Amino acid sequence: MDRRRFLQASSLAGAAFAFGARPAWSATADAHVDIMLDESVGTIAPEIYGQFTEQLGGVIYDGVWVGEGSSIPNVHGIRKQLVDRLKQIHVPVIRWPGGCFADSYDWRDGVGPRKARPTRTNFWADDPDAARLHGKGVQLYEDNAFGTDEFIRFCHLTGAQPYMASNLRSLPALDFSRWVEYCNSPAGSTTLANRRAANGSAEPYNIKYWGVGNESWGCGGNFEPGEYAEEFRRFTTWVPHYGVPLSFIGSGPNDNNLEWTNGFFEALRKKNYMPSELRGWSVHYYTWNLSLGQTTDWVAGKRDALDFDETGWYELFLQGLYMEEIVQAQWGLLGEFDPRRNIKLVVDEYGAWYKPGTQLDPSHLLGQQVTLRDALLTAMTLDIFNRHAEKVGMAACAQLVNCLNALFMSHEDKFITTPVFHVFDMYAAHQGGQSLRTSFSSPQVHYQRNGKTASLAGLLGSASMNGKTVTLTATNPDLKAPKVTEIALRGSARIASSEASVLTNPDMHAHNSFENPEGVQVKKQSVQVQGDRVIVTLPPASVSSITIQLA
Ligand code: AHR
Repeated sequence: MDRRRFLQASSLAGAAFAFGARPAWSATADAHVDIMLDESVGTIAPEIYGQFTEQLGGVIYDGVWVGEGSSIPNVHGIRKQLVDRLKQIHVPVIRWPGGCFADSYDWRDGVGPRKARPTRTNFWADDPDAARLHGKGVQLYEDNAFGTDEFIRFCHLTGAQPYMASNLRSLPALDFSRWVEYCNSPAGSTTLANRRAANGSAEPYNIKYWGVGNESWGCGGNFEPGEYAEEFRRFTTWVPHYGVPLSFIGSGPNDNNLEWTNGFFEALRKKNYMPSELRGWSVHYYTWNLSLGQTTDWVAGKRDALDFDETGWYELFLQGLYMEEIVQAQWGLLGEFDPRRNIKLVVDEYGAWYKPGTQLDPSHLLGQQVTLRDALLTAMTLDIFNRHAEKVGMAACAQLVNCLNALFMSHEDKFITTPVFHVFDMYAAHQGGQSLRTSFSSPQVHYQRNGKTASLAGLLGSASMNGKTVTLTATNPDLKAPKVTEIALRGSARIASSEASVLTNPDMHAHNSFENPEGVQVKKQSVQVQGDRVIVTLPPASVSSITIQLA
């Protein structure tokens, strides 16, 4: 009996299972998922589904900000379609203004009447990717049209919490506390509160999340960990609270650099300094080296976003799944310094980073196309965060629009969603749920890597429960084999109904474009409920979301 006919006949098998026997079709499934309903790993912080916007290339200008006088539909200058789509995915938090830009930014340049704001040299002006701009544009010479008040409005419109990154490399600590004062001091209380009122908001913004520098081991100052710890102490020793439970996010490691983490926390320990506001330790990990181990060079290791073969498809996942090791290792080390676990990991930059050449407009520095392959990588990454819900407190995909692992592409009046957007849409139901311990069993997939066979897990995912709704998300990275998957709920519960949606395409290079905005789309997938099990076929090269309603 072939698999499809077998599934059609499976209502009989379901009856057999109701009496406790393992149903006949169970043995023929390609993959099994067991969800332990009574074993919560922790609450999935909604903030894991955060986004990152930097004053870089086409992210803010052409992406977020179109200007108040624009004929492009906008709300106070902010692209309306973007706002609507961010509300759709319940965006919980947005990080800004960088990235590397943050450590060259004076927040004062971006407040007050727009015409009076100065034009400054953007951090990215000298990036090799900027050569194609021939010396022109806000990507090189930042006119500061978008500043603190515009960013906060963007957050308010979308429902996101703001997460601001401070300048630790090129401004003194006083400017940080003054920025907090501008944002959070009560109406009428300080000169800066009055200035904020003059700029449109008498009421304080009550911003909770503050990054203390960015990549302080690199563009944020090239510090040694001990040096950064010293700056961190200076920056955080006195910052006014105004009744807001401030959360400081320290500039953590590149990839899995344990020396950085160890050096920083050792230096704090020596000074007996561990402020309670230190609630997050940032981690940046990009999946960029697709050279199959041939080089570690940052430029030579990159490959094309669109032009890849089967090996390139699987290699992206092999490299991306290193995130799991980073989370486990960094968390383990953090525990030595923070046994009470006040500090969570904040993976505030992640995604695929390809070589230049597929950006939709020359002004989109670090712009690249986003394919189905990137959707699977993003889904795998979010599943890792969900599975480690007790460790990861926040994350931000780099970046929101027109840059790297973008959810959206826009240029002037054109605007589209990418396959990565669909992943965030499919995964939104996990926000705030209890992450459930879940086991996945499926044959591995194999591919050729430098003449040797490399292997990947054949099915990966995560599950959560929110009230009576169980959400399972899963990726099938196999380019050829669909997986008939048997999902079993362990624990006392009866399934009332189930449904599934799937993101896939027969072409592994599939992507959306202005000409073909619906090239990759989410579709409904049929499921069968058999007692306390759900049977669903996960197509090759797919991301799926299965919702199970409990009675
Ligand atoms: O996201 C692009 C850049 O990557 C960010 O500015 C920086 O923090 C990282 O190196």
